[in-house]
Amino acid sequence: MPAENLIQERASVSIDGWSIHEFASLPSTNPVAGALPAWHAVRADIQTGGRGRTGRTWISDAGGLWLSAVLPAPGPRKKWSILPLGAGWAVIEALRGIGIDGLRLRWPNDILAGHRKLAGLLVEQYQPETVVIGVGINIANRPDALESSLVGRTIDVKELAGRTVALQEIVRLTLGAFRRLQNLVEQDRFAEIVTDINTRWGETRPVQLSLNSRPEPLNGYFRGVDPEGRLSFTDDGGTPHTLEASQVALLREI
Ligand code: BTN
Repeated sequence: MPAENLIQERASVSIDGWSIHEFASLPSTNPVAGALPAWHAVRADIQTGGRGRTGRTWISDAGGLWLSAVLPAPGPRKKWSILPLGAGWAVIEALRGIGIDGLRLRWPNDILAGHRKLAGLLVEQYQPETVVIGVGINIANRPDALESSLVGRTIDVKELAGRTVALQEIVRLTLGAFRRLQNLVEQDRFAEIVTDINTRWGETRPVQLSLNSRPEPLNGYFRGVDPEGRLSFTDDGGTPHTLEASQVALLREI
């Protein structure tokens, strides 16, 4: 098949008020979704240039879910800055719908089972009044077969559920959870899920925090987030810090 045919849309389906555009292959689903209106979503079987947070590459091999959803985000931008935090929670909620529980979050929105990564999110804004949530979930794929540094560090839905789960079911649950999250933020009801989010960080862990404003990272303990989505951190000297997500370049569990 000529390369240009691979980026032709294969199908468009409507589920629960979403229009989902399906592709065999895309470089990345996020920018394609970024050109679409709210309540559209883009899914590709594989991504040839999948992108992770902080400029990393995201291995997007066949059998995984690579999906970008466009949510309406009207009004002040600050109101929606909480969305990336809520997006991780929404994916965990979606996966509960197929019987997977016990997942945890790693700030801001990595989804893990123990120390193994199941899913990641890349939230981007391409247009003033919409936000794109890009989600990658390992379903029945093998990213570690393509990238040896991932051996033992990833897990997938098939292993956690102990069965094969239809991709379309996970798409439906995930988009439904994103819609509920959008409603909560629009109605200024984020505080209702903060306790649940804080439970999902798991036990208090030592972390290394890199801030945008200082060259030296801080060592200490991540304590969770407050109802405005600010990160709560106590450094090794016992000094508490409350930080906006935009101030934090990287949080590494150590
Ligand atoms: C991360 O954990 O670093 C974020 C990974 C985000 C991957 C998803 S897959 C769908 C969307 N398209 C991309 O290129 N990235 C996101």
